Amino acid sequence: MFLSSSVHKFLSFMKIQEIHNLFTKMGMDADFRGKDGVQKLLNHKKSKFQKLSLKEQEEFDKEALENPYLDSGVYNIADDKEIKKVLVGIDIGPEEILIAKELGDIDLVIAHHPIGKGLAQLADVMDLQCDVYNFYGVPINIAEGLMRERISEVARGVNAANHQRTVDAARIMGVNLMNSHTSSDNMAAHFLKTFVEGKKFERVGDLVSVLKEIPEYKEAMKIGVGPKIFTGSTENRCGKIALSEITGGTEGSPKLYERIANAGIGTVVGMHISEEHKKEAEAAHINIVIAGHMSSDSLGMNLLMDELEKRGIEVVACSGFTRFSRIT
Ligand SMILES: [Fe+2]
Repeated sequence: MFLSSSVHKFLSFMKIQEIHNLFTKMGMDADFRGKDGVQKLLNHKKSKFQKLSLKEQEEFDKEALENPYLDSGVYNIADDKEIKKVLVGIDIGPEEILIAKELGDIDLVIAHHPIGKGLAQLADVMDLQCDVYNFYGVPINIAEGLMRERISEVARGVNAANHQRTVDAARIMGVNLMNSHTSSDNMAAHFLKTFVEGKKFERVGDLVSVLKEIPEYKEAMKIGVGPKIFTGSTENRCGKIALSEITGGTEGSPKLYERIANAGIGTVVGMHISEEHKKEAEAAHINIVIAGHMSSDSLGMNLLMDELEKRGIEVVACSGFTRFSRIT
């Protein structure tokens, strides 16, 4: 029997915090560490918190005890109503807040990239990368050792930003605002891992062709930013493929390429790569396939937005977000 897609939808509008909680739960379910691994990390933070002095406990951000992805959160609740229509973008700035205001019927703006406190705490989620590298065979002590400096470098790098610019615009304009970063990236990484592992191919060129079947990448090809080989060539054999550069805040340590090569990885699929990272990957003979930045971010956000759409919430895309629904 044929069922139209609307049959699978049910009207169940949510409030802003419920949406944030739903995305966090989805992110935990898709996390490389597994839901239990993420819970273990939260428990570890709680036991550390209990050992702090009262003054230190006062200064401690209690959200860190509940939210494993501090690069994601709710930044402005101007009207805590049931959400029926959202404006979603990869980068949300004051411009998009004005667009939401101009459209007039947007209940909530959802950013992908961190803003406000989420941006200030971007480095906090990068520990996840240690577990991702460990999953692909790098000893945890080496992954942690190499990531430690990189994490503090990122923390210093975001420290000087104008974190509250977009949040202030939302507050002044009375616009509800939140973001989802690592939950979304976890969804994209999990999807790509399952997708790639479910296919049979030998060479890097075949891997790129397979990625191009994904709607977000097919769409990105139209503007010249489809999946590309950054190091290696189409004729190179893939070897073991790692989806190690999709989630975990931002780029990890360039020194890890040699280690992942030693761990038996031949090809890495990532969203984006710096020149320094590219050089190190080349030196380690790792093939790097860059799936695309906005397109990969869109993939993760689409998987989250499908859950909102199922509940009858309308999704309007802006700022580099390409909407593809996978609701069947
Ligand atoms: Fe991104």
